[in-house]
Amino acid sequence: MAKVTGLDGIVAADTDISLVDGTQGHLVYRGFWAKDLAVQYEYEEVAYLLCNGVLPDQAQNQQFTKNLTESRQLPEALKRLLDIIPREMPIMGVLQTAIAMLSGGIFIWPPTKEQAIRITAILPTIIAYRYRMQNGLSVIEPKPELGHTANFLYMLTGELPKPAHVKALGAYLILGMEHGMNASTFASRVVLSTQSDMASAISAAIGAMKGPLHGGAPTEVIAMLDAIGSKEHAEPWIRESLERGDRLMGFGHRIYKTKDPRAEALREVTEALSGNDPWFDLAVHVEKTAVRLLAEYKPGRHLYANVEFFAASIMRAIALPTELFTPTFTAARVVGWSAHLLEQAEVNRIFRPQSVYTGPMPG
Ligand code: CMC
Repeated sequence: MAKVTGLDGIVAADTDISLVDGTQGHLVYRGFWAKDLAVQYEYEEVAYLLCNGVLPDQAQNQQFTKNLTESRQLPEALKRLLDIIPREMPIMGVLQTAIAMLSGGIFIWPPTKEQAIRITAILPTIIAYRYRMQNGLSVIEPKPELGHTANFLYMLTGELPKPAHVKALGAYLILGMEHGMNASTFASRVVLSTQSDMASAISAAIGAMKGPLHGGAPTEVIAMLDAIGSKEHAEPWIRESLERGDRLMGFGHRIYKTKDPRAEALREVTEALSGNDPWFDLAVHVEKTAVRLLAEYKPGRHLYANVEFFAASIMRAIALPTELFTPTFTAARVVGWSAHLLEQAEVNRIFRPQSVYTGPMPG
């Protein structure tokens, strides 16, 4: 008999935070279509929605944004830690360690919105600090007059980012914030359910996120776009791959049996920005060509672009180094983890599933 693994189809919790419906291609955050939020709202507003259950009014948004902005700075002890962690340690491991170090102080059971704001605000600063330090670049302090997304790009590059790039990355961050009871969210809820603290729970979530089966970087999509290189090469290149029986990276999805709503929203954003940047242009053209040719070579399979295709396209267009793809996804998903941890604490009961012993009995 096959061994039971993976908790497939098991409901671990009721949640008011999001709905993921793979059959209908729906992704809902707290009663709103995630794709609409990604196009119409800013990171701060959607983060507020996920953690509070309602969109903020103007005053609430101002206060929340101010709180986030004031929580970006790294404590000196954390900077010292980031300076001494060996250079070769991958950045996701560094993030996991740095967040675990926040434990204690304000980070004690139960989780609070103040804790959620602190972790959400500090994560991009940790990523940028470590990235620049590791690459021998001077560290850039956060700029209070910039919003969360623009400030992240500014701390990475030291330059004021283009509005089109901020818009595109902001849409990706919003669509990456939340996706139901995925592995990292579940891991964080399990840790918190022992009445451990929010920093420990998020550190565990980062440990789950870094695995290639979860937050792995969409590097294959980048390789494909790099190999295609220009609009004229798209059709012959894609035809040749499909003739060989290769899979087109960034197309098809196991859960979404129809269009991936996250990809749809990112396509809209990318389309709106094409003309602004040759990479947006190329991505839009490759997507259209690939969908047409997939329908020709794989009739009846309903293959569309998935979230990774446009995530990679956007990250390539804004020149984000590949090593920062998973950390950037983490800077998005930290909001969903925080919302889930606040929800977990409201109805907390320790997670304690059972296992079925299939080993031998003593003789
Ligand atoms: N390019 C070409 N053909 C494809 C592709 C593709 N990207 N995806 C599926 N097919 C074909 C496949 O060859 C098969 O055809 P046939 O029946 O003639 O042999 C048919 O479609 C069904 O394929 P499947 O393997 O049963 O589909 P699946 O649901 O098991 O696979 C998938 C889902 C994502 C692994 C697959 O679509 C794929 O390999 N895509 C490319 C890799 C990729 O983009 N991965 C990122 C997914 S998004 C991750 C996330 O949400 O976090």
